[in-house]
Amino acid sequence: MALRVGVIGCGGISRFHFPGLERAGAQIRWVCDLDEAAAEPWRARYGARYTDDFHDVTADADVDLIDVTAISRVHKVVALDAIGRGKSVICEKTLTENPTDSAEIVVAARDARVALFTSYMKRYIPAVEEAKRLVESGAIGSVVSTSVRAFQCWGDLWAGVPDEGFFAAVEDGPSEVVRRYGGGILVCGGSHILDLIGHFLGRPHRLFATMHTPPGGDFDVQASALCETERGIAHFEALAHPLQRIGFLRDGWDERVELLGTKGRIEILSSSWNDVDTKASVLKYYDNASARETEYRYPPESPFVRAIGRFCEAVEGGGSPPQSSATGYDVDELISCIKQSAETGAAVVPEWRV
Ligand SMILES: NC(=O)c1ccc[n+]([C@@H]2O[C@H](COP(=O)([O-])OP(=O)(O)OC[C@H]3O[C@@H](n4cnc5c(N)ncnc54)[C@H](O)[C@@H]3O)[C@@H](O)[C@H]2O)c1
Repeated sequence: MALRVGVIGCGGISRFHFPGLERAGAQIRWVCDLDEAAAEPWRARYGARYTDDFHDVTADADVDLIDVTAISRVHKVVALDAIGRGKSVICEKTLTENPTDSAEIVVAARDARVALFTSYMKRYIPAVEEAKRLVESGAIGSVVSTSVRAFQCWGDLWAGVPDEGFFAAVEDGPSEVVRRYGGGILVCGGSHILDLIGHFLGRPHRLFATMHTPPGGDFDVQASALCETERGIAHFEALAHPLQRIGFLRDGWDERVELLGTKGRIEILSSSWNDVDTKASVLKYYDNASARETEYRYPPESPFVRAIGRFCEAVEGGGSPPQSSATGYDVDELISCIKQSAETGAAVVPEWRV
């Protein structure tokens, strides 16, 4: 029987989730958003029911899976309610706004024996999948140095924040970027590449970090960290910059993962999250023995669709989900350690709780 799904949050990111669920053969029963107009196109497309109260969806016994694509601050309450009613959960990243809440969700999902997937979809970019296969096959030997960076063009925020718009200071509340996502470049772009550190190298043992907040802003525009892992040092940096034409596609998006090993090197150049279905990423593999570099090019293919497809298949077939249920927690723990290190000026040893 097709999975019966309720989608909570019908804003920007949901446009990647609906096709993923559709391609997985799921039946979209409910669409939920505080703003009915945001939900209406999806309601009409799938003949779904609409509500502005997520409890209507989580309480429906004929729903198997809840997909949480609402703003980050509501992830916890929706995910815990869904898990408490025995539903599997897909949740957009970051899982919550702190590692304590994220650990609570992971433990709840494990106790309830339901599947939990935090949408770190970059693992499912074809270039990243091939890179993972090459690393695990030993093609680049032992990894000794890794560099990951997410440089995104956010306009010139370094001199101060604008008076209006997404980044502006608001008198009695957070800026729009913080209200929606829970922070600046660290949670937005940085979270994905922190996940890739975990994916390729495992959980870091220790890290030292710095962060920068622009004058008048309540969000960071730079976060960098040196992370010690089982597979050597990883250099991490997330940066909001004003340069419009840098990056391999010359669109201001300059995201890159480099893994250097004793036998070769891998470089991934990945396209922007909001273009992942139209602009493909590139993988370069240098083999030291032959002194040859191979460039892999792929047709654009949405990693959201690939990830959701695999997760739904596992939930339907009772198999293992494509990634650990702790993935979202791991990233939130690292984000917290980076903030702590930047604040104290000291290295931090993550205490992995789940
Ligand atoms: N994976 C990625 O690359 C990526 C990229 C962008 C955003 N995101 C994540 O996706 C989530 C949503 O971001 P977005 O850009 O779509 O934001 P958005 O503001 O465009 O959409 C969020 C929607 O949630 C709705 N909403 C808020 N509270 C709600 C509630 N209590 N019940 C139901 N609906 C509610 C809002 O009305 C809005 O329509 C965030 O957690 C964000 O971090 C992930």
